[in-house]
Amino acid sequence: MAPLGPRLGAPRGQARRRCRLRGVGGVVLASAPHPAPREPRRRGAGAVISATRRGLRAIRSLRERRRTELCALLATDSAQAALALHGTPLLLLDPERVRAQYRRLSAALPSVRFHYAVTALPHSAVVDVLAEEGCGFDVASGDELALVRRHGVAAGRLIHTHPVRKPAEIADALAAGVRTFVVDSETELEKFRDAAPDVRVLVRLSFRSPQGGSDASAKFGVGPFAAGRLVARARELGVRVAGFSFHTGRLDDPERLADAVADALTLMRHLEDELGIRFEILDIGGGFPVAYDTDVCSIEEFGAVIEPLLAPHARRLRIIAEPGRILAAEAMALVTSVVGIAERADGRWYHLDDGVHGAYSSVTADDVRPLVYALRELGQTAADSESRRWATLAGPTCDSADVVAREVLLPELAVGDLLASPAMGAYTIAAGSSFNGRAVTPVAVVVQGPSTGPVATRERMPEAVAVA
Ligand SMILES: Cc1ncc(COP(=O)(O)O)c(C=O)c1O
Repeated sequence: MAPLGPRLGAPRGQARRRCRLRGVGGVVLASAPHPAPREPRRRGAGAVISATRRGLRAIRSLRERRRTELCALLATDSAQAALALHGTPLLLLDPERVRAQYRRLSAALPSVRFHYAVTALPHSAVVDVLAEEGCGFDVASGDELALVRRHGVAAGRLIHTHPVRKPAEIADALAAGVRTFVVDSETELEKFRDAAPDVRVLVRLSFRSPQGGSDASAKFGVGPFAAGRLVARARELGVRVAGFSFHTGRLDDPERLADAVADALTLMRHLEDELGIRFEILDIGGGFPVAYDTDVCSIEEFGAVIEPLLAPHARRLRIIAEPGRILAAEAMALVTSVVGIAERADGRWYHLDDGVHGAYSSVTADDVRPLVYALRELGQTAADSESRRWATLAGPTCDSADVVAREVLLPELAVGDLLASPAMGAYTIAAGSSFNGRAVTPVAVVVQGPSTGPVATRERMPEAVAVA
């Protein structure tokens, strides 16, 4: 076990970044979770300036790409109809984007079977499209389980990965037919003591990402020695440990994921030799990144690094993953209106009808910096746009912390003008609330391309996750 100690469960400092990072200076922009604290390389001013220019060009190109996507979505008959019908704030969900992402992910990682992490966006249309594609589902609660079951998903396609649950929740999931669960403590293991022989658990490993925006091992997961002890204890209790799971947190570095995979495989081999057992499952978690305000490694770049590591094990192990963000984020856009305008000490403020207690919850809870466009300038290029000014965007509640974005360059806006943010599908409305008595932002399901019938439907998330 000696070589595992400093790796598994501890921050790694030497991640090589194989995919082309498009941040300023080719170094890490804000979202990179695990850069090694290196000595800055001494470079001439010219090199720094040209690297900065490259970085700024990359950010501009992401902005242009998102602008084009928003234009296409908002030009559809169904988006127009939904906006006319419901007004703002409104989330526009295109489930076909979820399908396209799932297909890309499956093509890039053919050795992996995917279980959509319903938590990211627990919406019927997303469940339907992924169920059609043959995707599995990862649920974290009884309500999420009920949602996917209502859509006819067989229990065999589900995994329950929350490492700590009420006994009653486990009993309900078992009764529904779920057979794969995650644990990371002896207390949780004991809850499965009397489970049927076909029930299996995965032990959650910890891979810290303390420098990133999200460290999914800050709360859950164990290091290799504790993992070994749990496997041994499970044998005493008669609980079947099928393998291991982990979640590296949101990461923009395929090498970090590769390190975690390699460490988990090493641990599995070691315990198999030591305890004379055979594991069946490796669950490589979620964490695939999304380009919010800066570009990130693509699905294909992750596949190019991870697939060669996994493929040799795919015959003896069932390799699974639980992606949420990468499937859901780009499928939804938010449209809001300006409801108030104020000149404050730090300049112009626009108050919107949605904020961080609603669909923009990702700003505070998920460390996301969303792009925001004024609808009337969407069709324009940077060159032909009218004069703009920097502004702060605030949400509608009385909470002073309800600020969506600062220093956003926008044209002069009036009350009633519309704004839109792309990539608002993951951990947005799912974590929003009705604080200040404001209704949860509705979701309209839209279709791209010419419409032929009733195209916009409205679904409120509480209904989407209500227990059947
Ligand atoms: C256990 C587990 N698996 C998967 C996910 C989905 O992760 P991501 O959206 O980063 O892909 C989460 C997110 O909270 C999680 O907690």
